[in-house]
Amino acid sequence: MINLNVNGQQHQIEVDPRTPLLYVLRNELKLNAAKFGCGLGQCGACTVLIGSSAVFSCVTPVSVAAGRPVRTAEGLGTIENPGPVQRAFMEEQAAQCGYCIPGMMMRAQALLERNSSPSEAEIRTAMQPNLCRCGTHMRILRAIRRAARAVSASASAQGQ
Ligand code: FES
Ligand code: FES
Repeated sequence: MINLNVNGQQHQIEVDPRTPLLYVLRNELKLNAAKFGCGLGQCGACTVLIGSSAVFSCVTPVSVAAGRPVRTAEGLGTIENPGPVQRAFMEEQAAQCGYCIPGMMMRAQALLERNSSPSEAEIRTAMQPNLCRCGTHMRILRAIRRAARAVSASASAQGQ
């Protein structure tokens, strides 16, 4: 039995601890934002957060996430109230087919949580593990810059 906390919700799941986290999220918890791309830790479609770290959930055994907060793109906001990263990706129309986008958003979220004003070089370096087959990289970068401005503005408004 594995105890998982995903997007703030607690779950107890009967599963082989070696099962990839991605399979548990999609098949057991029906959280389908994280995608299966390569299954080899090479494309980033499956990226989720464990704690503050972006991980490839296709090659991360579910046991690694036990007792630690897991976040997926479903946890970034809602349709009515999207989070800053989701909003920026929509406003910049960063998605073409959309397959890479949940993973892109999670890696961007991890970046902005540790550095709310990243330089262009820092954004490019942080996003390097995630690939987009449609080639919307320039829009994705614009979306992350937009999200960073929103996150910084909200932090200043709160006096942080
Ligand atoms: S599906 Fe996990 S890195 Fe490609
Ligand atoms: S939008 Fe299609 S893979 Fe990125």
